[in-house]
Amino acid sequence: MSKPDLKVKIGSLEFNNPIFVASGTFGYGLESSDFVDINKLGAIVTKSLSLKPRKGNPPPRIVETPSGMLNAIGLANIGVERFLKEKLPLLNQFDTKIIANVAASSVEEYVECVRLMTNEKIDAFEINVSCPNVHDGGLEFGTNCLKVGEITQKTVAVSTKPIIIKLTPNVTRIAEFAQVAKENGAAAVSAINTFIGMVIDITKRKPKLSHNTGGLSGPAIKPLAVAKVFQIYKEVDIPIIGIGGISNYSDVIEFLLAGATAVQIGTHNFVEPDCTEKIISDLVKYLINNNVKSVKELIGKLQLF
Ligand SMILES: Cc1cc2nc3c(=O)[nH]c(=O)nc-3n(C[C@H](O)[C@H](O)[C@H](O)COP(=O)(O)O)c2cc1C
Repeated sequence: MSKPDLKVKIGSLEFNNPIFVASGTFGYGLESSDFVDINKLGAIVTKSLSLKPRKGNPPPRIVETPSGMLNAIGLANIGVERFLKEKLPLLNQFDTKIIANVAASSVEEYVECVRLMTNEKIDAFEINVSCPNVHDGGLEFGTNCLKVGEITQKTVAVSTKPIIIKLTPNVTRIAEFAQVAKENGAAAVSAINTFIGMVIDITKRKPKLSHNTGGLSGPAIKPLAVAKVFQIYKEVDIPIIGIGGISNYSDVIEFLLAGATAVQIGTHNFVEPDCTEKIISDLVKYLINNNVKSVKELIGKLQLF
């Protein structure tokens, strides 16, 4: 069989393959270039960028948990201006799509970040309305359907590039949020960000994170994430980027069958920094062995009981 077609489309954008790296787990995209051939990735999603630099939360801000990790980084980043000056020109040397992830403490800040970056060599924006680790903004927006609608509509209005809304799983019905994103012009949704979690040090009788709670990621959340993707796929006609606990090619196929058009790898980048290359080559082998000509043939092809 000839080489299978790995290309996927989200709106007008075509990606070389459906394997992206998740925001906050791959730096600004350059930090991992010693381990991974960046040109092989479908897309890089940058660390969340805010209008002004942010220091993030004080340490400790990461704790290991069974089958995953809890983080409360608090959106530490260098800000839009320095990103455009110092990081983007280097990222643009690679043959991969660049998705700039944006975080903010107000609707105006989201709009201003997108406006400042929209004429740069960036392919799409992922709007993080779902960070559980900040006091201002974050989940306050992502758990409020009206706010998600407003942020989507106002960022779409100033953007010349597709807007992807990154949803939180910390809601009862995630599909309602995907529907609002669609109605307000989003090109896609990313599902999911982390689940709120807590780890307690029983000697000190204190939480292990300075922020008290954090975001749970990694294999522990994979079945939850697949179910969220499936719920959105059943109810809303919008491309979905699946995220949550992916560590190998078979996890990727689960997400595609549940309805994802592409996926992002997060926590596993810390465990196995070159995992994305391996996942792509294993995906190709799976497609060949199962006589699947295009990865698109798998999207939403789950057979229910
Ligand atoms: C250390 C760490 C930092 C993260 N930072 C961000 C961030 O800045 N912006 C964002 O949208 N998501 C952030 N995330 C969430 C991931 O992008 C992803 O949605 C989540 O971890 C679930 O995927 P995973 O289980 O494969 O890690 C972060 C996750 C981790 C573990």
